[in-house]
Amino acid sequence: MTPLDTIIRGGTIVTASDTSRADIGIKGGRIVMIGEDLGPDLYDAPEVIDATGLIVVPGGIDSHVHISQPGEPGVVIADDFESGTRAAIFGGLTTVLPFCLQAKGQSLREAVTWYHGLAEGNCYCDVSFHLIVTDPTPQALGQDLPALVADGYASIKLFMTYEGMKLSDRDILRTLEAAKTSGALAMVHAENDDMIEFLRDGAEARGETAPKYHATTRPIPAEREATHRAIALAEVIGTPIVVVHVSNRDAMEEIRAGRARGSVVYGETCPQYLVLTADDMDRTGFDGAKYVCSPPPRDTAQQAACWEGLMTGVFDLYSSDHCPYRFEDEQGKKRPAGVKSFRYVPNGIPGVETSLPILFSEGVSKGRIDLNRFVALTSTNHAKLYGLYPQKGTIAVGSDADLVLWDPAETRTIRQDDLHHGADYTPYEGFQVTGWPVRTILRGKTVMADGALRADKGVGRYQGRTPHHRAAAP
Ligand code: URP
Ligand code: ZN
Ligand code: ZN
Ligand code: ZN
Repeated sequence: MTPLDTIIRGGTIVTASDTSRADIGIKGGRIVMIGEDLGPDLYDAPEVIDATGLIVVPGGIDSHVHISQPGEPGVVIADDFESGTRAAIFGGLTTVLPFCLQAKGQSLREAVTWYHGLAEGNCYCDVSFHLIVTDPTPQALGQDLPALVADGYASIKLFMTYEGMKLSDRDILRTLEAAKTSGALAMVHAENDDMIEFLRDGAEARGETAPKYHATTRPIPAEREATHRAIALAEVIGTPIVVVHVSNRDAMEEIRAGRARGSVVYGETCPQYLVLTADDMDRTGFDGAKYVCSPPPRDTAQQAACWEGLMTGVFDLYSSDHCPYRFEDEQGKKRPAGVKSFRYVPNGIPGVETSLPILFSEGVSKGRIDLNRFVALTSTNHAKLYGLYPQKGTIAVGSDADLVLWDPAETRTIRQDDLHHGADYTPYEGFQVTGWPVRTILRGKTVMADGALRADKGVGRYQGRTPHHRAAAP
């Protein structure tokens, strides 16, 4: 008898490229065997998981989540590493990539140390970090970034908007050059900040302060122009970029055009651009604030465009951009007395737990994408691009046994009461889904099964990464 720790029997295994009926043998937290019938006559394991009727996919990887990131004074993100990663495993994820935000005047290394301190011992899934560069000093770009990339922090995010975070074109060029030299992959938040500030001033002068004006003051041309410019800046340096949280067709066309010129441009979209619209910000009271994120959700035509981007390959990545706030904080704590304006609503919505079920249901169950594309968009491509592959992102001998069992027939209604994040609402309240993650296995250990937590915090580990273009070929 070959001793194994766990055998997953009878499931349909789906990777980004293949679908097969096979059993999986796990030992020491890794997949050691994939075979047609790892039956009890030949193989022995203390744990046998029956996956009959279920789909077995590589654990989901969400490469865009915000956890414990400080925002405006007095406003805190609703998830720390404990609640954020707990929500993640209930949503079919086994790895998340939050950000280490560099405060102005802070070194990149100090930022990394601070986030590690928060994450250490508190995670339910594996975690790896991107760096947000807000202060591209010669020290940060010349010394800290190359050293950090070598240490496993293989990606950075740059902002073209948000006071205190945005970089000038000149600083973006300097930072992209340093990214190229050090091998970091740069993610870019592309919105034209001057257009937004100009439109906001006009809206407020007209008394247009309701949450719905968040959308009208961050229009598609602001995203299109900045996307064009980000790609042009990357073209000058000759380094790849990821355009994150793309909301509309014009920005998609910029990605297509950049690729047609020979630039390496990756695209990411998120659930909010598939199932929400700007109308959601036009709810009674100040409830529209629950849908405020940037770029804003657009309309049904742009939803269709984003689906097309997922189907045709404009988008390589599907991420949640989980950035949760409590409703009380959504109302804008730092606003001047008596003023209640969309301007003071912190940008971002919760979504780490509902992200994959929404794509599974609206994408796979409704026949827009197949299961292999689902796996590519929610796991494999994240692992490849950000340097975790093939340890993560696939089902293969030698890979971590990060596996999620989905019941394709299970129908649910999304309810805040059933979720595990730290926010006090979900923008998807009442949304019906077909297909649900019923078991999450992290490095061979079941951490969630049938809606119950099966692990203690601390089971999740930090994972360093190899810069994507240096990652070993599979
Ligand atoms: O509104 C958003 N997306 N908030 C999160 C921060 C970001 O820009 O990704
Ligand atoms: Zn962003
Ligand atoms: Zn253009
Ligand atoms: Zn984000």
